[in-house]
Amino acid sequence: MNNDVDSVEPRARALFAPLTIRGTTLPLRAGVSPMCMYGSVDGMVSDFHLAHLGRFALGGAGLVIVEATAIEPRGRISHHDLGLWKDEQLEGMRRIASLLESNGSVPGIQLSHAGRRAAVREPWFAGAPLDDTDAAMGLPPWPVIGPSSIPAGPEGWQIPHELTADEIAASIEQWADAARRARSAGFRFIELHGAHGYLLHSFLSPISNQRTDAYGGDAERRMRYPLEVIRAVREALGDETILSYRVSAVDGATEGGMGLHDVVEFARCAVAAGVDVIDTSSGGISADRSTDTRVRRGFSFHADFARELKKQTGAVVACVGFIVDPEQASLLIEEGYTDIVLLGREMLDNPNWVHHARRSHATDEFDHWHQRYGSALGPRLHSLEKLAESGETPLSRFNQYSGI
Ligand SMILES: Cc1cc2nc3c(=O)[nH]c(=O)nc-3n(C[C@H](O)[C@H](O)[C@H](O)COP(=O)(O)O)c2cc1C
Repeated sequence: MNNDVDSVEPRARALFAPLTIRGTTLPLRAGVSPMCMYGSVDGMVSDFHLAHLGRFALGGAGLVIVEATAIEPRGRISHHDLGLWKDEQLEGMRRIASLLESNGSVPGIQLSHAGRRAAVREPWFAGAPLDDTDAAMGLPPWPVIGPSSIPAGPEGWQIPHELTADEIAASIEQWADAARRARSAGFRFIELHGAHGYLLHSFLSPISNQRTDAYGGDAERRMRYPLEVIRAVREALGDETILSYRVSAVDGATEGGMGLHDVVEFARCAVAAGVDVIDTSSGGISADRSTDTRVRRGFSFHADFARELKKQTGAVVACVGFIVDPEQASLLIEEGYTDIVLLGREMLDNPNWVHHARRSHATDEFDHWHQRYGSALGPRLHSLEKLAESGETPLSRFNQYSGI
């Protein structure tokens, strides 16, 4: 796809500047944040996923990151999460990667293990832990795992099985296997879900990790599991695949959690272990609403965290959180808050966001749309302009009838 960033107005130009990491070029800086759709059976890709993700590539996103994809069945959030724990799941993933790539987006995927926050209902059922009611409908809870036997929340949350050292070693292999599968499916940007209280985050935080062995205790030992996962995944990926790591920049708990300073320290080690991109999110360590302190959902609500992570680690940084406007996105990049902007709900609302951003800030007449759309929309725009000149509106004929 032809980028011609020079045709973009200066105030939105940074958004359209390409970015090359490990030989892969994002054609522009706006990507789609991973978003679970809970539309999978046995972790398999469905037609829904293809339609859903294809819209973003056709909409011009530079990067599309497939939703949290479980590295093993116990790592699913719900029964209906995507998975990459077995080869049978590869074919659907290949279709996604090739669909994204052939329509101009860098294909990305987020690998995940929900740890002690697994085995819950979908958000439209309030995300509550699965129980006997679900079991009666054929969707039973499964035993969840974690660094320590501390549940994520009060009522209903399971006491996780505390992983043994052997189980930790096996789990690291599962991350590496899933990464290998993702790469072989054609993904070029692979993200580890290290945020939101899931398994990797739960090892890092003193709230959920109270082990007394080599994987718990001081910060260095709590970092050990995530860093071993990163090293194993980097080795599985080789040198050409971009490795991203989504952090919770703050734990989001009233007491005893990790703050930005701790996460910066971890991020530095993560980069040294082979991570290329730090993706900035926040919160989730606790499912207890009485101690959960969410970052206020203002516009660009992770931007200050992202800037600090960028400054302190020197890594490429991605930032997500109520980014909705092309100039806002461009300024975040230009003023050094982030290198990549990720959009979640905004893209659900408007999958053509990037195209519309370009049309409002560049001399672009559908050149960047798929030609099957652009060749129809260009002439339509000229017809609309002529109608506007003539004074005709969509309501003209009705106004005439009603005598207005
Ligand atoms: C429906 C939905 C599903 C989500 N699933 C994931 C996920 O799979 N992995 C993840 O890291 N974040 C997930 N998130 C968080 C988003 O990636 C994003 O960080 C958040 O929505 C804030 O960005 P926004 O304001 O642009 O929506 C999800 C959010 C939504 C709305």
